[in-house]
Amino acid sequence: MDKFLIEGGRPLEGRVSASGAKNAALPAMAASLLTGQPVVLRNIPRVRDIGTMRSLLDELGVDSSVKHEEHGNRLEIQARQLLNPVAPYELVKQMRASVLVLGPLVARFGHARVSLPGGCAIGARPINLHLRGLEALGASVRMDHGYIEMRTEGLRGATFHFDTITVTGTENLMMAATLAEGLTTLDNAAREPEVEDLAHLLNEMGASIEGAGTDTIRIRGVSSLHGADHPVIPDRIEVGTFLVSAGITGGHVCVDRAEVGHLAAVITKLREAGVGVRANGPHELEVEKDGALRAVDLDTQEYPGFPTDMQAQWMALMTQAEGASVISENIFENRFLHALEMMRMGADITVEGRHAIVRGKTPLSGAKVQASDLRASASLVLAGLAAQGETLVDRVYHIDRGYERIEEKLNRVGARIRRFSE
Ligand code: EPZ
Repeated sequence: MDKFLIEGGRPLEGRVSASGAKNAALPAMAASLLTGQPVVLRNIPRVRDIGTMRSLLDELGVDSSVKHEEHGNRLEIQARQLLNPVAPYELVKQMRASVLVLGPLVARFGHARVSLPGGCAIGARPINLHLRGLEALGASVRMDHGYIEMRTEGLRGATFHFDTITVTGTENLMMAATLAEGLTTLDNAAREPEVEDLAHLLNEMGASIEGAGTDTIRIRGVSSLHGADHPVIPDRIEVGTFLVSAGITGGHVCVDRAEVGHLAAVITKLREAGVGVRANGPHELEVEKDGALRAVDLDTQEYPGFPTDMQAQWMALMTQAEGASVISENIFENRFLHALEMMRMGADITVEGRHAIVRGKTPLSGAKVQASDLRASASLVLAGLAAQGETLVDRVYHIDRGYERIEEKLNRVGARIRRFSE
């Protein structure tokens, strides 16, 4: 099992490039099930979750090939026919985003058998809204030994209101509705850039979708979809993580191949905290420290608010800021596991339910810490970069799920991180 040994206390200096967004690539891969023609996806990040989704497509009997390109991988996927409409527990438990095959399988093949994903470290993560929405489109849903058994004689357009804003719930229904008969309206839909990117791909495949990126999405069903060639958007959470890495080490870093427009809430917060962030055009951000860091309260929100996937990284930054900051996690019920590990490095954090109070500035000292989930792990790397001495981060496979060789990118801007197995 891989670990990182991090030598902290060095300001980062230099240039780093963003990879494609894992959370745009995963729904895009699922969307390829909606046609028998080849779908080409580019700027695909070289991360574990993409490999898991390829294994799932393979399990379904869908051919896919990958080619290394200068910026990310090029994936070609062709779902000519379906050998086996089952997404097995062994794969779904590894990656809950596997549920994204549900909508496309039912829409194209009229049948799907997908394991219930179960919870994860950050919360219960139910998919009740995915299921209710697909039922509204005419699918029959049955639970069977931990599996969702879904069938339809043909989906029909409907209006569905999401009680809670859900990213993959919106994506699942949007994909299914592309082949439903008539008009589907999704109310209180997720507005994340990854939802919008998926709609762009689906329209390139011949779908008729309007309103993606707003809270009301209209999908007019078509009889079939065709292939497309689509580059996925940059990973805004990876970019945000690199911006924080510069702020927390008092360094000077440029991040290119980014989509500046996807990071407005993060940029605003960083500036409030005294991190000098400048946009050099629409695809490059430059960070340099312009004074002591200041404590700033944070509320995580659905897009365009401050993303929950940046909350752990923000907490690491706030340990180095003067004053007390209150961090409120409004999306998931258990997303402060990283706090306990940072406290072992010397941080002063009090967790009370969905709120964490960070009192800084506290010097961090290197320690052995344990990663628990993808973004918590990234925040421990950031804390290690700021700490005096060596930090050993265990269970690095969590990081590899969503960051492309993060240690190589950070070392190129002056970090000293060694990956090793034992
Ligand atoms: C997506 O997860 C992302 N994953 C997550 O990123 C991200 O944290 C999350 O959106 C929020 O932005 C992918 O896109 C693959 P949700 P998702 O459904 O869609 C509740 C990462 O680090 N809910 O938007 O699973 C749910 O419990 C990952 O890359 C229901 O109640 O999240 C949560 O409280 C972590 N019923 C809230 O909605 C449902 O049917 C938002 O969850 C669905 C969701």
